[in-house]
Amino acid sequence: MAIINIRSFAGLRGEVTPPSDKSISHRAVMLSAIADGKSSIRNFLYAHDPVSTLKAMRSLGITIEEEGGRGGIVVYGRGLRGLSEPSDVIDCGNSGTTMRLISGILSGSQFFSVLTGDSSLRSRPMARVIEPLRQMGAKISARQSGKYAPIAINGGGLKAIDFSMPVASAQVKSCIMLAGLYAEGTTTITEPLKSRDHTETILCSMGSSVKVDGLTASVCGSGELSPIDITVPSDFSSAAFFMAAALMVKGSELLIKNVGINPTRTGLLDAISKMGAEVELIDKRHVSGEPIADILCRTSSGLKGASIDSDLMPSMIDEFPVLCILAAMADGVTEIRGAAELRVKESDRIKAMAEGLSAMGVEFLEHEDGLSIHGCNDMKPARIKSYGDHRIAMAFAVAALASGCSVDIDDTECVDISFPGFFGILKELAS
Ligand code: S3P
Repeated sequence: MAIINIRSFAGLRGEVTPPSDKSISHRAVMLSAIADGKSSIRNFLYAHDPVSTLKAMRSLGITIEEEGGRGGIVVYGRGLRGLSEPSDVIDCGNSGTTMRLISGILSGSQFFSVLTGDSSLRSRPMARVIEPLRQMGAKISARQSGKYAPIAINGGGLKAIDFSMPVASAQVKSCIMLAGLYAEGTTTITEPLKSRDHTETILCSMGSSVKVDGLTASVCGSGELSPIDITVPSDFSSAAFFMAAALMVKGSELLIKNVGINPTRTGLLDAISKMGAEVELIDKRHVSGEPIADILCRTSSGLKGASIDSDLMPSMIDEFPVLCILAAMADGVTEIRGAAELRVKESDRIKAMAEGLSAMGVEFLEHEDGLSIHGCNDMKPARIKSYGDHRIAMAFAVAALASGCSVDIDDTECVDISFPGFFGILKELAS
């Protein structure tokens, strides 16, 4: 339990550099591990989730050394077929990205391995990766007839498939692409809407034969991957909490630095623009194949309710909790639909947000695939259940700051999953 009672009288001002991108950190380590030689990663995110990936790759025989501090690491890749059988179960902690992406690599690796995770991860759907991996020829079993972790894999002997994904998910897409690296032939994956494409970008920089044509990505099996030298930008999803806070807190002018602005991630910018708010993207540039910018956020003079297009959802999937807070502080009703995937994240985020908003006195209508939230200018102090979900805890800390109400959030340590030090930085910016 932590009571969040952060007031800001002068607004959020100055500069902040959010932590490094979680999705890119996972992929940089995994792909470097199966590349042929030594890769260097700058700004690796030392938070619980990517550290689960780092430990997993070490347990598969990969040497990873810290270099030069500040998230500098060197990964001694052993090639596609150089991983060794782990001597124990691999614990993916809370990280869906670790479990789903690594299951693609392990399906192509000729040994036995078992993946497990914490109680949240063990209740998240895994059939979405297990079924296509089985179609590729992997021998996989999992709890409840192949639905939930632990997952046991006897890898090897994969063949390419053409796979049409029922839901837009970068984790599923990346899993199949990684398995495709080991398969005979060309694997193609088509998604219903575009999800984040960091795997494709890194694979391209490694000389892989990955091709992207609209919503279809393809990868050829068996080509070796060249090592990389990669700098990880700041995470748009972590920046989003500061962005939202600055838009809502009076007197704010905050520069959020070095943020990844890959269009597959920035749906929140379109959503806030529909709500009548703008941010400025300054000094747009590219780092390691990813577009980045500094984001200048000033207090918005009047956030208004809007209907958020469900097609935007994949590009703002992790921003749903903080968007709900913006909606609660806006004038009128904001309808957020097409978000059914949020029910199977680290927690049921629709339910967790509904409960927390209700505790703060906000009115809403809950849908199976989202929330219609009535803006409220009279939020009240509340006790909030985070359900151990980092983004729920951070969203309600922003709600406390924006509304001036103190909130008592349980299990606040969960923010270490993606953003160690979050509360301290928010407090400092607000003071
Ligand atoms: C991620 C993809 C998204 C996102 C998650 C990270 C990734 O999940 O919610 O936090 O790194 O690929 P889905 O692909 O399941 O939507």
